[in-house]
Amino acid sequence: MTIKPVFADATPLAHLPDDRAFLSDLIAGFAKPQKSLPAKYFYDAPGSDLFEAITRQPEYYPTRTELGILDAQGATIAATLPPGAALVEFGSGSTVKVRRLLRHLPGLGAYVPVDVSETFLRSEAAALQVDYPHLRVAPVAADFTRRFRLPADLGRARHAGFFPGSTIGNFEPAEAVRLLRLFGEILGDDATLIVGVDLVKDRAVLEAAYDDAAGVTAAFNLNLLARINRELSGTFDRDAFAHRAVFDASASRIEMHLVSRTDQTVTVAGRDFAFAAGETIHTENSYKYTVEGFRALAGEAGWSAVSVWTDAEALFSVHALRRG
Ligand code: AVJ
Repeated sequence: MTIKPVFADATPLAHLPDDRAFLSDLIAGFAKPQKSLPAKYFYDAPGSDLFEAITRQPEYYPTRTELGILDAQGATIAATLPPGAALVEFGSGSTVKVRRLLRHLPGLGAYVPVDVSETFLRSEAAALQVDYPHLRVAPVAADFTRRFRLPADLGRARHAGFFPGSTIGNFEPAEAVRLLRLFGEILGDDATLIVGVDLVKDRAVLEAAYDDAAGVTAAFNLNLLARINRELSGTFDRDAFAHRAVFDASASRIEMHLVSRTDQTVTVAGRDFAFAAGETIHTENSYKYTVEGFRALAGEAGWSAVSVWTDAEALFSVHALRRG
C-alpha cells in the first residue's frame, strides 16, 4: 500500500486574522448604540477548549444530537454524494463529525478540510490520514467566509461540501445566503452540500442550552473579556459583567450578551469605553430554523433540497442540498 505524501499542497493562508482586525472590529462594535463583538473572537485557545466543554454539558443538545443523526443515517447521507467525489469541509475543526461519513465512503476521491487555524488543521489532517491511509487528504488553510481556491489537482471529481455544527446559525440570514452561495461557487456545478442546522424549539430548552447550570457557556462568553485584556491591553474586570442568553422568537435566534453589572469605564488599547449598569455587549446570535425555513434560505442561494434527516425529538436537522 502506498501512503501518499500529506500536505504537499497545503495552501498557505492569505488572510490571517490579526490583532489589528480584532481592535478595529472592537472599536466599530463598541461605537454602535447596541455594543457588539463578532462571535468569531470566541475561539482563541481557551475559548476553543471552553466550546468543547460546552458540547459535553447535558443542556447543550446540538453536538450530541447531530452526531446521533450522523451515526444513525451516515450511510444514507453518504449515498447522496456522487461516486468519487471530493468532499470539502468548511471549518473542519476536530474532524470528529466527518468521520461519521468517511466510514461509509470508501471510494471518496479526496477529503479537503478547510480551517482558519493552520496548526490545528495540519495536526487533525495528519491524524485522519493515519486512520484513512488510502484517502487523499488535501488540507486548505483558509477563512471559509472568503473565496478560496480548491487544490488544483482534485481532477474531474465532482465536489461535495460538508458544513456541520449549525455554524450557519451564527450568520445573519442575509449573510447565510451569501455564504451558501459562495460555497456553491467554490464547489461548482452539480455539487452536493450537507449542512447541519439547529431547529426552532421551546424557549426553555434553547435558553438552557446557552446557559448551562455548570456555567461553562458563561465562562465561554466572559472569556472574550479576558482575550481583550490579553491581546488588546484591556482593563475589563470579568466579575463586573454577567452572562445572558435569551431567545428572540420573532428573529428566531438565541442572543448572547455580556451585561455590565455597574456603571463603569473600561480601557482598551488606550481608548475609554463607558458602560452603564445593565448595558450589554451583544456577543453572538445563533439562528434557529424550521426545515422549511432553512430550505427557503438555501433556495435563495441556489441550492435545492434533496433530503433532510432529524432526530426523533426533532431537535436538530441535517440537510442534503444540490446546486441548481
Ligand atoms: C458553534 C455556533 C454552533 O451557536 O450553538 C455554543 C456556538 N455559543 N454555545 C452555537 C455556541 C454558545 C455554537 N456554534
